[in-house]
Amino acid sequence: MPLVTSTEMFKKAYSGGYAVGAFNVNNMEIVQGITEACAEEKAPVILQVSKGARAYANHTYLVKLVEAAVIECPEIPIVLHLDHGPDFETCKACIDGGFTSVMIDASSKPFAENIEITRKVVEYAHAHGVVVEAELGTLAGIEDEVKVEAGNASYTRPEEVEEFVSKTGCDSLAIAIGTSHGAYKFKPGTKPQLRFDVLHECEKRLPGFPIVLHGSSSVPQEYVEMINENGGAMPGAIGVPEEQLREAARSAVCKINIDSDLRLAMTGTIRKFFNEHPDKFDPREYLKPARANIKELVRHKLRDVLGCSGKA
Ligand code: G3H
Ligand code: 13P
Ligand code: ZN
Repeated sequence: MPLVTSTEMFKKAYSGGYAVGAFNVNNMEIVQGITEACAEEKAPVILQVSKGARAYANHTYLVKLVEAAVIECPEIPIVLHLDHGPDFETCKACIDGGFTSVMIDASSKPFAENIEITRKVVEYAHAHGVVVEAELGTLAGIEDEVKVEAGNASYTRPEEVEEFVSKTGCDSLAIAIGTSHGAYKFKPGTKPQLRFDVLHECEKRLPGFPIVLHGSSSVPQEYVEMINENGGAMPGAIGVPEEQLREAARSAVCKINIDSDLRLAMTGTIRKFFNEHPDKFDPREYLKPARANIKELVRHKLRDVLGCSGKA
């Protein structure tokens, strides 16, 4: 089947009590690792591309890699999504350039301005058959070059969500409930806890409406150790506990974003390979196990965290 929008996916995820995985892609091996796992697990998937990914790999290369995955995995629905679109122009370039879904992230702007920018993107996207994710509330961490310090992060205010969704016409809403981007999400020694009260209040005010969670990597300690044991230095890297993500997936959360975990799996695997084989220099030899570990990591997410295996 051709690339799809997330509309049907989210309807099924909402009523089925699971979430669709949204995985960031930056190169061929990442696209392959993710989609091979999804095809084998018969899981729907969202492949998402950030502004940084477009700058790194080039828009056309990424679109063509995803189109290749669509050909290779004909039985599963695949969405091509812009992650954290910073402005109307970037969203328009992706809408015109083959994406089926875009995020406009004006969450750092004042409420009225966020509405205005989002509304403009929605008008253009809907006229072209593309769906739009928007964001209310700000996550800590790094999104492209924008770094939000933990102290400046703010939870979504549930009392704002109905007005925001009705005035913008967005198709899904990313909310801030304590997740953050990157590999250092919580202070070591503290107990990571998402604000399910905020999520449930948003859910109550937007019945049937798909909610999105960003910053949802769990930072597998297996890969943090692999990195640290093989010349890396990532002390205190901590992610969102998987059981909390599973709980979120059972609620109105229909899309869960994961990028850092893929990076950890890839980097850990390559570091270990280099450490064990200092004589090797053929990129295929280290990219192959890295791709295989991304695939296994994604398979685990689909089965044990998102609950979307067999839902394609
Ligand atoms: O939300 C951020 C994603 O992990 C993308 O990261 O902007 O470094 O590509 P990036
Ligand atoms: P992580 O850094 O937790 O993987 O979050 C990814 C993300 O939210 C992409 O938009
Ligand atoms: Zn994000």
